[in-house]
Amino acid sequence: MEKLKVAIIGAGSIAEMGHLPYYQKHPQVELVAIVDKNLKRVQYMREKYSISKIYSSFEEMVNDIKVDAVSICTPNVDHFPIAWEALNRGIHILVEKPLTTTYEEALKLQKIAIEKKCVAMVGMTHRFRNDVKALKKYVETGELGDIYYAKAKILRRRGTPRGWFTDKGRSGGGALMDIGVHALDLVWWLAGRPLPISVSGHLVKGIGAYFREFLSGWKSAVEENKDWGKFDVEDFATAFIRFKNDLVLHLEVSWAINGPQDEGLKVELYGTRGGLTLEPLVFYSDKNNLFNEAWLIVDKNNPFEEEINHFIESVLNNMTPYSPIEDGVQVVKMLEAIIKSSESKEEIKFI
Ligand SMILES: NC(=O)c1ccc[n+]([C@@H]2O[C@H](COP(=O)([O-])OP(=O)(O)OC[C@H]3O[C@@H](n4cnc5c(N)ncnc54)[C@H](O)[C@@H]3O)[C@@H](O)[C@H]2O)c1
Repeated sequence: MEKLKVAIIGAGSIAEMGHLPYYQKHPQVELVAIVDKNLKRVQYMREKYSISKIYSSFEEMVNDIKVDAVSICTPNVDHFPIAWEALNRGIHILVEKPLTTTYEEALKLQKIAIEKKCVAMVGMTHRFRNDVKALKKYVETGELGDIYYAKAKILRRRGTPRGWFTDKGRSGGGALMDIGVHALDLVWWLAGRPLPISVSGHLVKGIGAYFREFLSGWKSAVEENKDWGKFDVEDFATAFIRFKNDLVLHLEVSWAINGPQDEGLKVELYGTRGGLTLEPLVFYSDKNNLFNEAWLIVDKNNPFEEEINHFIESVLNNMTPYSPIEDGVQVVKMLEAIIKSSESKEEIKFI
């Protein structure tokens, strides 16, 4: 059987850590090319990983070779133009999060993906964690009853990424677009993807750039971006979202805050019959007038590998993926409303 021809667009940190190794490992994939506008980076990737073709732009690549699917791993604002060009050519896409930086762009991608019958998946990596999958299964048993309150938070003490992430023109936003997207997607999806009706949000650049002699953290792989550079985004975001089914959701996110550090993404779901938390993974209930706490035991897995394998499986079998583009669209709609609400200091209503 002919192998699926895959290319990676944007050869940075996440491409090297979360995409490339698993395409190279997959028996039904041929990683045919890597594209990056940074020549040094793409040459480094070719030499280190023996990639036969490298290009400096998506256009240059598609004018030269045929590809079936691409991973889009560029900074956030570049997701849309590349995804748009790929889908128009009938190329399946796995786009890193967030899908796009505006709702309008996200909708355009969804429409063209349907028209061209392409698999379009968003890299919501946390959905592929074993503990998260276990939690989702638990919710689906109905043991929580009606879920009426949901919380998601990730507060880092000092964990601001370096590079384009702090430049609004390239990232579309700060902590909210970077880690808030994971938190919001996860809690919304676990709660059954309800329809949002209103959003109240607040963004703050509280700490900004800080002295970091003893601190590491995520950074862009591109040499020139290693320092703080432009910093015109928030490092703290909070939001309150109401849904049509009467669920309310509270989101809290920070890259840098003067408080305790959350080592992982924390999610809490409260229902009429039971409650569930992620980090730690616990189910709370009340049986025979006694409080029950069940600590759920799950082996750790590699969510990046599962994400790539699932994308390939979706393309090969023409399946709707586990984190489809329509979910990415809804999440971007809420993210955009949080930003608008913060700017206007008013609640944003959808219906
Ligand atoms: N799923 C996750 O958990 C996770 C984790 C980190 C980053 N990400 C996402 O991955 C994406 C990339 O982040 P990163 O940390 O790898 O950044 P990075 O800066 O390390 O890599 C981005 C690369 O894209 C290249 N690039 C920029 N514009 C381009 C274009 N138009 N065409 C081709 N190449 C281009 C840059 O030269 C750079 O090498 C972002 O959207 C980010 O939100 C996801």
